[in-house]
Amino acid sequence: MKAREFAERRREFAARFGSGDEPRLYFAPGRVNLIGEHTDYNGGLVLPLAIERGTYVLMRRREAPPTRLYSAVTSLEAEFDPREPGAARRGDWADYAIGVFSILARERGAPPPCEALYFGDLPLEAGLSSSASLEVATAVAASSLGIALSPEEAARVAWRAENEFVGMECGIMDQYAVALGREGHLLLLDCGTLAYRHVPFDLPGASLVVSHTGLRRSLLASEYNLRRRECEQALSLIAGVVGERENLGAVSPEEFEAAKDVLPEVPRMRAEHVVYENARVREACAALAAGDPEELGLLLNRSHASLRDLFQVSCPELDALQEISLRQPGVWGCRMTGAGFGGCVIVLLEEEALAAYLDTVPELYRRATGREPSFLAVSPSAGARPL
Ligand code: GLA
Repeated sequence: MKAREFAERRREFAARFGSGDEPRLYFAPGRVNLIGEHTDYNGGLVLPLAIERGTYVLMRRREAPPTRLYSAVTSLEAEFDPREPGAARRGDWADYAIGVFSILARERGAPPPCEALYFGDLPLEAGLSSSASLEVATAVAASSLGIALSPEEAARVAWRAENEFVGMECGIMDQYAVALGREGHLLLLDCGTLAYRHVPFDLPGASLVVSHTGLRRSLLASEYNLRRRECEQALSLIAGVVGERENLGAVSPEEFEAAKDVLPEVPRMRAEHVVYENARVREACAALAAGDPEELGLLLNRSHASLRDLFQVSCPELDALQEISLRQPGVWGCRMTGAGFGGCVIVLLEEEALAAYLDTVPELYRRATGREPSFLAVSPSAGARPL
């Protein structure tokens, strides 16, 4: 985003909230997951990246309540008493921010009243984690109110806001990726222990593109929560054979193979996906360390097949976009990314093949599905921060 736009937003802030101290500016990116899908809430491994686009927030203290928030993205305003944010749930964008204030009030005592203007360049409901971006931006901006959080703490507050306030039982991948992204790196996160390491994305001549199906994720909440229950069921049955395990992420492929015959079909398919997807994340790190985009591409393709056939969270549009992408010259691999049932695929391809890909794929996809796709080239970027 350009300096000119920031100046414009500062004027908008003053026009809306009046003159006073200069507000401080904070940023939190969106995220894309390279591999390790539906593993986070199973205590498994994930390998996401933060992207350049995200959420900006201008924030400053106010003398007295209420706290006032305004989103220039949705043109909606929210007002609430910072001593009692929990009473203010509304069912729109502001819940992600109010949820953070609510968790902070519970954990650290009520934050002082403030006013904040949100804006950004992250498409909403596109599978790029605009919600985690908004939550983490709010948590990081709380430093202007005297609440200093480490990136890990900001991620955890944001995750609790989403689970406990908004009511979406998501895993912790998105908030960690947004809070802890690093330029040129992926984030290898063990969602069981929250140990992490930054993995260089150093594949000369390789590019990443996120291709959107044009389909919003309607089935999401109910199917997502159902998958969680199915994974829990699989875990308890496997534990009966191999002994207690904390989560499916702690079950090795060998243990799964030894136990799979006791599982009914559905939990067996879910567990098989999680156990082998976890192994694929390790293999992807090895492929990255070896500078081998072909191997990495194969892993992405296997991940997609597993999400489609075993975990059953793909849809015809995602499958069409994946297949069309794979047919293009210079494409090493492609898979659905994020929760599924719509949203995006991530494509690993030769930088030189990018222009032809963007030229050819839209028409092929339109013809196959009747839907309008959109595309975003991404590269691993820095996480949330004051600007
Ligand atoms: C959504 C959730 C994440 C994760 C992915 C699937 O994006 O927010 O926590 O579970 O789905 O990998």
